[in-house]
Amino acid sequence: MQKHWWHKATIYQIYPKSFMDSNGDGIGDLKGIISKLDYLQKLGITAIWLSPVYQSPMDDNGYDISDYEAIADIFGDMADMEELLVQAKKRGIRIIMDLVVNHTSDEHAWFIEARDYPDSPKRDYYIWRDQPNGLTSAFSGSAWEYDDLSGQYYLHLFSKKQPDLNWENEELRQSIYDMMNRWIDKGVAGFRMDVIDLIGKKPDQEITGNGPKLHDYLKEMHQASLLDKDLLTVGETWGATPEIAKQYSNPENQELSMVFQFEHIGLLFKPDAPKWDYAEELDVSALKAIFTKWQTELELGQGWNSLFWNNHDLPRVLSSWGNTGSYREKSAKALAILLHLMRGTPYVYQGEEIGMTNYPFVDLSQVEDIESINYAKEALEEGQSMESIMDSIRKIGRDNARTPMQWDAGLQAGFSNATKTWLPVHPNHQEINVEAALSHPESIFYTYQKLIALRKEEDWLVDADFKLLETAEKVFAYQRSTGDKTYLVVVNLSDEPQPFELDLHWKETIISNTEESAVLESKQLQAWDAFCVVL
Ligand code: GLC
Ligand code: CA
Repeated sequence: MQKHWWHKATIYQIYPKSFMDSNGDGIGDLKGIISKLDYLQKLGITAIWLSPVYQSPMDDNGYDISDYEAIADIFGDMADMEELLVQAKKRGIRIIMDLVVNHTSDEHAWFIEARDYPDSPKRDYYIWRDQPNGLTSAFSGSAWEYDDLSGQYYLHLFSKKQPDLNWENEELRQSIYDMMNRWIDKGVAGFRMDVIDLIGKKPDQEITGNGPKLHDYLKEMHQASLLDKDLLTVGETWGATPEIAKQYSNPENQELSMVFQFEHIGLLFKPDAPKWDYAEELDVSALKAIFTKWQTELELGQGWNSLFWNNHDLPRVLSSWGNTGSYREKSAKALAILLHLMRGTPYVYQGEEIGMTNYPFVDLSQVEDIESINYAKEALEEGQSMESIMDSIRKIGRDNARTPMQWDAGLQAGFSNATKTWLPVHPNHQEINVEAALSHPESIFYTYQKLIALRKEEDWLVDADFKLLETAEKVFAYQRSTGDKTYLVVVNLSDEPQPFELDLHWKETIISNTEESAVLESKQLQAWDAFCVVL
């Protein structure tokens, strides 16, 4: 198998509005990111996945782009972007851009022309129909919006301000590849491709994900923009199975480096229920089965995994799988050890490395996310109580991931000098913040730092195979073996002690959040014990 830099990389995701505000307007920006590169270098990451910083009316915080080749004023300008590339490179950090090409903003010049001049060739860049069908928007309601001027409807699988692009139009596809090439020429190291599995849609058949031409388009894109450039490309693909993930990521297919699959994330939700109807109890056995399936089915050379707990669309992992009380630090380390020692490229979402948690939203006035706001409106109309709506938002709303990064214990957590930030700062910043984490050698930060360093140094993390071991239900234990060495990873995913009866003896400890020798003697794991040893 040909090895690429991203096989041994850990990627750090930045949500620009919430990372660091340099000019006191309460919103994070590019200069803010530049000022924190030393911190990221200390953490040891190889690359940043930068959520969108392009020009945008910010209906969906930048996932609604009005110009792919300009920077949003709130974030700075193109000179700041170029400075970020330079400063990151100096520190050995690459920049991966978010590529949002399933849709644009309705304020993009293409859409304005398409709407205002129905005869323009740009009309066909979008999807227009005389009659709506049953397709619904991910942000509630119909996916079709009526346009007065032409008497037609346009498709928007997300907000009304995010009209879907028509990938069947060849000229549109070429414009996208050209735009990607200009970013590559600027020095970006790859792309995270937003909802990329939707671009092959067949709206008339109500097919959205995994449409018939999806892989043709990705192959075409690869030839036009990615070939032989050693970039990292990761597709956001909610509906991927291991089979589908191999289609994308098998190097022979020349499509993408890897995809984000969300099967483990699916456990947060009730099966076959609306997203907001979250699962009351999390199923650890199912989590083990899902990780095992992906680890074993994406065989080396035939596919590649991404590994993640968090992103800007998901609740904080400590508030779901972890413990936000007295085991906060220990459970955060356990979850990190569990994830980072599997095969794949790990992603760390800003704040995860210091154990940030969900925000205690009290009412809708504190909520900014269009998905949550639209859900609340619809649910209220349907007669749901405000209490149950806020309960869902607190549990799984996307703003949980988007509150400002907690840099120190001071005002606005050191994120901004503004009296009001765009989303409120979590009150727990007095305890949970970067400054505190850096000053404690035992903090979560240093576990992440160690895992990230291991990823760079240790070939077995790429090469070794994976085997799940039979243990108590709440214990996740797996072995990774190469020809001559076997590594054992053991994690207690619970607040209670668990039996550990495997008769194993080890020579060397790789990483641990506990006294792992006590486990052998007592044949017991304490709450959230986690370690990796060489057998
Ligand atoms: C992706 C993004 C999400 C966004 C949506 C529409 O799922 O991660 O934040 O709202 O696509 O672009
Ligand atoms: Ca700012």
